[in-house]
Amino acid sequence: MRQQTTRISPEDISRQLQYCREVAALSAARPAQPLAFVDTYGCQQNEADSERIRGYLREMGYGFTQDEEQAQIIVLNTCAIREHAEQRVLGNLGALVHVKRRHPEQIICVCGCMAQEAHVAEKIKQSFRHVDLVFGPHALWRFPEFIHTLLTQRGRVFQVAEEAGSISEGIPVVRQDRVKAWVSIMYGCNNFCSYCIVPYVRGRERSRRPEDILAEVEQLAAEGYRDITLLGQNVNSYGKDLEEPLDFADLLERVNAVPGDFLIRFMTSHPKDATQKLFETMARCGKVAPVLHLPFQAGNDRVLRAMNRHYDRAQYLAEVRRLKELIPDIVLTSDVIVGFPGETTEEFEETLSLLEQVRFDALFTFIFSPRVGTPAAQMDDPMPHQQKQANFQRLVDLQNQISAEKHAAYVGKTLRCLIDGDSGDARYPLAARTPGNRLVRLDGPAELIGQFRQVRITDANTWSLFGELAE
Ligand code: SAH
Ligand code: SF4
Ligand code: F3S
Repeated sequence: MRQQTTRISPEDISRQLQYCREVAALSAARPAQPLAFVDTYGCQQNEADSERIRGYLREMGYGFTQDEEQAQIIVLNTCAIREHAEQRVLGNLGALVHVKRRHPEQIICVCGCMAQEAHVAEKIKQSFRHVDLVFGPHALWRFPEFIHTLLTQRGRVFQVAEEAGSISEGIPVVRQDRVKAWVSIMYGCNNFCSYCIVPYVRGRERSRRPEDILAEVEQLAAEGYRDITLLGQNVNSYGKDLEEPLDFADLLERVNAVPGDFLIRFMTSHPKDATQKLFETMARCGKVAPVLHLPFQAGNDRVLRAMNRHYDRAQYLAEVRRLKELIPDIVLTSDVIVGFPGETTEEFEETLSLLEQVRFDALFTFIFSPRVGTPAAQMDDPMPHQQKQANFQRLVDLQNQISAEKHAAYVGKTLRCLIDGDSGDARYPLAARTPGNRLVRLDGPAELIGQFRQVRITDANTWSLFGELAE
């Protein structure tokens, strides 16, 4: 059944901006500009959401700080993907009790994916009395209204109702970077991988209209952004809910046609929906960076079925082969879960052999973490944690060796790299990225940040490349 996406109307967003002006009028009465601290956990989607929260805060007259003692508003934009992520948030949130005791007028907000989990919202309601506002990703567009309510009526606000989700355009943004930008092209996920919480907290898949995405990219290109990442939990299913017959490859083609000197990246791609058309489009479009993040999660077919991933090992390997034929210098990265319930060490060894076959440039590795309400959390999980940890270490060691070998092969090459920031190391003060997004550290003046330069790679280790300006 086709599902209609709710689009938040421009009038609704105007009303939120009106709340911003009313809050700004309240703030103007203060002796100094009030400050806000937005603390972001989790993935790029959350980073992109935090840029909207900051956009609203700026409209409300707030400046920004990283110091919770200085902040009148503290926002924790949380992640629920693994237990460790949740514990970090709860630990930091607990510590804010003392900060708030020193600053009783402070407003403490919890939003993001954890806020959308019913048991977490309940725990905050009962045990974290210093938290004033809790709202899930679906209610982010109403943030100014919530702050207005808190400032004018006090009390606590909880806005965490479950819903399929909506799309709102026109929320102001304050971007964190002036070289790289995130552009969400879709929200939510329909895949229900059996271990994953995301579909429960982010709602159903919904695509932004291509004209809205293109307008945002045009503006970013005009402002001089050099690296634009299109975001979605599964960008390969972009467009399935749109009237217009348009898929992700078509969108990529249109973004590629936007004038300007910038690179296009995207994440994440689900292997079940990665098409030959997408690979051909990537190969053809000059601005699309030669890099693909294609999570495989496990190398064994039984485990992949239990994960509800809808592809098998042979299909995954065939995709990688086709991609490498079309784009020989493609940089491939992936996500892997170790210790999925019931995965035996023999099955895990197929994950290792897949690594050896594909030879990823880098890998994001995770130990399975049961998430409340997901099918995998109910599955028998007999392997002791110690064994999972040992398997995990074998995985990391193998990948480190592969990454080091792949990096070593760059030495002597000269590549067009984007100088994108500070490396924080006096010997190599600049950080740059190869076209395939590998980190290069080099010496040079800070004025180069934001420019593409030819860089000769002189050295490498497991985690990064080292280079020098070639001109
Ligand atoms: N939408 C993306 C991934 C989002 S979550 C995709 O489908 O590829 C990022 C990664 O976290 C996942 O790819 C997976 O490897 C890992 N992950 C998700 N749920 C997890 C869990 N319950 N335990 C351990 N790792 C998990
Ligand atoms: Fe989670 Fe799977 Fe959706 Fe990725 S595709 S967000 S792993 S359910
Ligand atoms: Fe975490 Fe939510 Fe992203 S659970 S990984 S912040 S979509």
